[in-house]
Amino acid sequence: MSESTPALEAAHIDVRFGGIRALDDVSLTLRPGEICGLIGPNGAGKTTLFDVLSGIRRPDEGRIHLAGTDITRRSPVWRARHGMRRTFQRQQLFGQLTAADNLVVAQEWRGGGGGLAADLMAAPTRRTYERDRRARAAEVLRVCGLDGLGDTYAGALPVGRARMLELARAVADPPKVLLLDEPASGMTADESRHLSSVVRHLSDEEGCAVLLVEHNVAFVMELCARVVVLDLGTVLAEGTPAEIHADQRVRDAYLGTTAG
Ligand SMILES: Nc1ncnc2c1ncn2[C@@H]1O[C@H](COP(=O)(O)OP(=O)(O)O)[C@@H](O)[C@H]1O
Ligand SMILES: [Mg+2]
Repeated sequence: MSESTPALEAAHIDVRFGGIRALDDVSLTLRPGEICGLIGPNGAGKTTLFDVLSGIRRPDEGRIHLAGTDITRRSPVWRARHGMRRTFQRQQLFGQLTAADNLVVAQEWRGGGGGLAADLMAAPTRRTYERDRRARAAEVLRVCGLDGLGDTYAGALPVGRARMLELARAVADPPKVLLLDEPASGMTADESRHLSSVVRHLSDEEGCAVLLVEHNVAFVMELCARVVVLDLGTVLAEGTPAEIHADQRVRDAYLGTTAG
């Protein structure tokens, strides 16, 4: 993969729900390490685009490439194994598992199967894998400001902490492309600041490309180098936060009503 190969590229995506064109010829490119915002009014197609990018929904038209490989027909699991992770607009944690266990199960299992007998007879490497996963879970909890909550059931976490745990789970194995659907919703100002710093770290230090849907426009403008605006299933505008802020069509369609 050359320097200029996009981390993720969606070209000419169409999605129709009966008579509704949820996405109409949408193209979008993410470069390695960049943080790109995706904004637009309710019903614009943001979540549908995430569903297409992550493989939950097949587009009616268009192609998707991950680091130069055509993944249009690949499953969500295949995409996740190849470094693409997402979080959901609606919380989707394993509420009956502890915070730490949510992160352990999110990591690729390299220890092999075989049940209890195999566990008891296990070669040292198998136990090492398990220890590694526990250690990684603890480290990710710490980075996400959740240390001390590892033994708490995910279902018992306050909403902002639970949202942070969703991010933690998405990055338990280091991602190459991260899709975040309204990650700051329900967070306090302190929590969303911490979220920003974790996302920035992933992008700066680990070269992860991030696409971020968020209704909190100030949060997006502060964190993202580039912003794409969706409206009625099409890309209305694309540019730096300053360019987007100054764009009259964007103000009319979106910012005018939410950001004054
Ligand atoms: N499963 C579905 N069946 C029918 N219409 C849908 C479905 N999911 C989304 N839509 C429609 O597609 C459009 C885009 O929705 P969505 O992607 O959820 O927008 P956003 O996330 O930007 O609010 C809306 O008109 C919505 O009603
Ligand atoms: Mg949505």
